[in-house]
Amino acid sequence: MSAAILVGMDVRDLPTPVVVIDRAVLTHNARSMADHASGLGIALRPHWKTTKSAQAAALQLEFGAIGHTAATSAELKALAGGISPSVFLAYPPVGSARVSSVLESARTAEVIVGTDSVAGVHELGHAAVAAGVMISFRLDVDTGLGRTGVDPSRAVEVARELSKLPGLRFDGVWTHEGHVQGVGADPARRQQTGLAAGLLLVEVADAIRADGHAVDSVSVGSTPGAWSAPTVSGVTEARPGTYILGDENQVAIGTISEDDVAVSVLSRIVSTQRGAVAIIDAGIKALSSDGSLHGDGRVGTIVSSSGGIVATAHEEHGFLHGAADARVGDVIRIRPNHACGVMNMHSMVAIAEDGVVVDSWRILARH
Ligand SMILES: Cc1ncc(COP(=O)(O)O)c(C=O)c1O
Repeated sequence: MSAAILVGMDVRDLPTPVVVIDRAVLTHNARSMADHASGLGIALRPHWKTTKSAQAAALQLEFGAIGHTAATSAELKALAGGISPSVFLAYPPVGSARVSSVLESARTAEVIVGTDSVAGVHELGHAAVAAGVMISFRLDVDTGLGRTGVDPSRAVEVARELSKLPGLRFDGVWTHEGHVQGVGADPARRQQTGLAAGLLLVEVADAIRADGHAVDSVSVGSTPGAWSAPTVSGVTEARPGTYILGDENQVAIGTISEDDVAVSVLSRIVSTQRGAVAIIDAGIKALSSDGSLHGDGRVGTIVSSSGGIVATAHEEHGFLHGAADARVGDVIRIRPNHACGVMNMHSMVAIAEDGVVVDSWRILARH
């Protein structure tokens, strides 16, 4: 299918399902987040899991990003292999494959890793010593998400232990304030939760400094928290990812407006045998199974004037509810729940301006 994304085509003639990204909205999003970070006087290091595209990374660097954030070894290697000058692997570098990817990538780009324990960098430290290199790391602090990250009360003790390890250099602290999204659509609560995460991280950084260690970077990162956590004095870096494309989940909680969503999935109605429920050619393999913050289990929201939602889906079939006058062959535009999940389902996406294809991007590092 990807071979048929040709410059000059009307997007409605593209083979479906297909991801279409509006270039003007994408550029606006990239620029406004860069302006926001520079207005705060902090570095922008976007998470690349959202786009996995060399062209998107180049746009972010053009607008002033200092580098990128990666979650996987494949993302790290792709970024360090000529796409970005500096990569933060915001994921525990555990296991020999991740260790090798860090050492290999450190030959061509600045590489920093995240860890929340001595055990998490044990193998990497030994490998770095054997290779005669020094790898920078940041201490992962849990500011409320409850995923990885040391409890703030133990941060000084863990930083002290980590600082003794050979082959590794302590660069600072980081958190992913993903729980800001979890508080939902109340903007005051989102603001409060993001600020609290930023304040907690800065407090941890100060406590580690008071224990005698230099803390160069204090890094926060998320789209829903991008207007709160990085505004705390003492934060040095923001790592939002989703912002560049936007998605229905960000619209649902009010982080961004519908007009700021650059990504959509085009699909065709392929069957109307089920009465009010039309069947479309975008299922889980086009839209991903990432959940909806609307709380109704939908897998996508129709943007076209017909209205409706993709209420549920099989692998290659979506169940379209609430669309007026659905006819076989109609092309519909769907705003996906979560941009990052959708991009990872496709190997090529279309870039459009005013409904006409102007470019196609290869999606890298999917595996
Ligand atoms: C460690 C880390 N940093 C930054 C981000 C970016 O957050 P968002 O997708 O809300 O922009 C993520 C997203 O999952 C993440 O896991």
